[in-house]
Amino acid sequence: MEAIILAGGFGTRLRPLTYTRAKALLPILNKPMVFYLISMLPKEVDKVILAVNYRKDQIEKHLKNNDFGKEIIVNDEPEPLGTGGAVKFAEKHITGPFFVLNADIICSLNLDDMIDFHEKKNAVSTISLWPVKNVSEFGVVDMKDDGNVIGFVEKPKPEDAPSNLINAGAYFLEPEVLDYIETGRLVSMEKEIFPQIINDTRKFFGFEFKGYWTDVGRIQSYIDVHKFLLKNQQLEYSKGNTCEINGKLSESCIGNNVFIGENSNLESTIVFDNVKIGKRAVLNNCVIGENCKINDCSRLTNTVVGDNEIIVENIVLDNKMVWNQPVPHGYPKKQIGNVIGE
Ligand code: GDD
Ligand code: MG
Repeated sequence: MEAIILAGGFGTRLRPLTYTRAKALLPILNKPMVFYLISMLPKEVDKVILAVNYRKDQIEKHLKNNDFGKEIIVNDEPEPLGTGGAVKFAEKHITGPFFVLNADIICSLNLDDMIDFHEKKNAVSTISLWPVKNVSEFGVVDMKDDGNVIGFVEKPKPEDAPSNLINAGAYFLEPEVLDYIETGRLVSMEKEIFPQIINDTRKFFGFEFKGYWTDVGRIQSYIDVHKFLLKNQQLEYSKGNTCEINGKLSESCIGNNVFIGENSNLESTIVFDNVKIGKRAVLNNCVIGENCKINDCSRLTNTVVGDNEIIVENIVLDNKMVWNQPVPHGYPKKQIGNVIGE
């Protein structure tokens, strides 16, 4: 059985961290985000197809260096084909019913249970569902009591949302769904394909689950997922190898080779590898990229600092995105695939 992991987005809402790396490789508790997804795949899945384009070499390199006990295929799109186009582009690898997973979700979904549900319902398409308050950032379903999905609308205005149940970004599909997707053009699964399947009154079902779910697509959700996982593991903080901590850390995570000076205080903050933080620095709700230097007495709140940046001493930054280097060529100004309010 195959699983396609959609990992080709630019991760524009995670700028500037994604100027230098694929979103799927952003570390969560010092492990690339996509590793969590691969680890949650059922035994039956013996082939994982990573649908990539932006920063595909990085993804390839990370996956080559790890053994997941499954065949891993890095399927490189010549250009971004969208969530549907990327699935169609993987068609040659599909041999039966298959999973499609957004690469940026961290959740407690049990994919074996989802297969059982799909088979019981004799469905053509089963999508995982999660209840939220902020529906307009997601795809929202209209569903009958028996789980039959009769409407799907991507990023609706709150007043147009048919329910509070959103697409949790994991699908189990019969191969015939591939026939709905045109070859060689940008196709959105959510905006084009799901509505067509529903329109054709094919068996489209929603699978609700319990536990936790996060789309790690925004800086705040990226910080929040760390706090959640730390709490789950009853940890005040987590650290990589060869760190020296002289200050205080709470609800925070630091990478490898991080130095924290005396009397510095980090709260709800994620620090990547090879970072030096000086004395009496205060960081609250921040993300600090690789190879950064944060000098003495700086105070940062709600701020994200891209790789290789230097923050001067005594500075106060609130709600800032720090990036003083050129934006990579071809990086879009805004989200292209699943834009809000289009
Ligand atoms: N290969 C490939 N090619 N992957 C892509 C492309 C593409 O052109 N565009 C986006 N992706 C990948 C992203 O990397 C991400 O893993 C996944 O597809 C979903 O794209 P996002 O950009 O993260 O979409 P979203 O978060 O706004 O909305 C999606 O996820 C929500 C749940 O988290 C939609 O599926 C919503 O309906 C859903 O509720
Ligand atoms: Mg997302």
